[in-house]
Amino acid sequence: MTKTILRSLAGETLPTPPIWMMRQAGRYLPEYKATRAEAGDFLSLCYNPDLATEVTLQPIRRFGFDAAILFADILLLPQALGADLWFVTGEGPRLSTITGPDGLAKLKGVDDIHETLNPIYQTVRNLSGALPAETTLIGFAGAPWTVATYMIAGQGTPDQGPAHALKAEDRATFEALIDLLTVSTIEYLSAQIDAGAEVVKIFDSWAGSLKGEDFAKYALEPARRITAALKDRHPDIPVIAFPREAGDGYIGFHAATGADCVAIDNSVDAAWVAEHVQPAGCVQGNLASSHMVTGGDALVSEVRRIRDALSNGPHIFNLGHGITPDADPDNVTLMIETLREK
Ligand code: CP3
Repeated sequence: MTKTILRSLAGETLPTPPIWMMRQAGRYLPEYKATRAEAGDFLSLCYNPDLATEVTLQPIRRFGFDAAILFADILLLPQALGADLWFVTGEGPRLSTITGPDGLAKLKGVDDIHETLNPIYQTVRNLSGALPAETTLIGFAGAPWTVATYMIAGQGTPDQGPAHALKAEDRATFEALIDLLTVSTIEYLSAQIDAGAEVVKIFDSWAGSLKGEDFAKYALEPARRITAALKDRHPDIPVIAFPREAGDGYIGFHAATGADCVAIDNSVDAAWVAEHVQPAGCVQGNLASSHMVTGGDALVSEVRRIRDALSNGPHIFNLGHGITPDADPDNVTLMIETLREK
């Protein structure tokens, strides 16, 4: 029997939506913290296929999610392109910055990425042999705009200011970076599929800061190019796009990009999504991750509300963004039990 996630992605409306959770392998789980400590640091964990396989499997064992997502990070691709990358504990990622043509010229070419990324493909191969038969394996990459925001600023920023500034002041460098990331992402995701990924997801966490024509050029168009190239090579592999906080930009996103599923953050209402987005194809989301911290009746009623609002079309249940380290694993169990109660 076809796996539930693949049925939803093919457009089927299931009586109970399948479920997985963004950042399901993470610091809210004691077993994750133990394996991460064994690895030493976060990047060593990402590049260790045995330990990365182990942390990917942990939430599957504990909760029985319908999908596993490869354990890696969207910033491994810039590292594979030659950017320096390190993580400051308690603060987040740091990268060498790209402020103009010189920074761009120092990067490697698309053909060079696999040398660094080979351990990631090995993790995918391990997982495709280790997962339960009913569990779907999702590979992923960052969208070019979101990855570029980190490469340009050298870190996360509240408003993606440095990336917007480079776009305004040196559009040629900015567009060359988006182009390099687009072609590299195609090769990276294609290699994950060759290694056994059954679905791929493109994370555009900062899509919401692109407006109007910029949204069309730097969120829609790269997602369309990546999806088209992957469909050309791997016609049966579904693509999930996540243009976080796109607002009205969610409308038409399936059609404009060719994505099989659009993941929705929690700033838009599920009833609105059912009316304006779901008619175009499968949607994924959109419970606020704060409920994984607070739990209780509010969690139960929100899970029911979202499930019921999206019950007339294809839906994969998920959070609107990643689960946070202060979440309680018992609330994850309560979410799953509530979802599956009918
Ligand atoms: O979802 C999963 O379980 C798969 C693994 C995964 C990670 N990062 C592991 C991770 C995925 C899919 C990502 C994607 C990612 N990484 C995004 C896009 C999704 C989003 O959250 O918006 C972004 C923007 C990044 C970049 C990144 N990685 C940041 C900003 C940080 C620091 C913030 C934080 O949560 O610590 C990371 C670190 C990171 N990536 C952690 C994990 C489990 C925490 C690292 C640790 O163990 O200390």
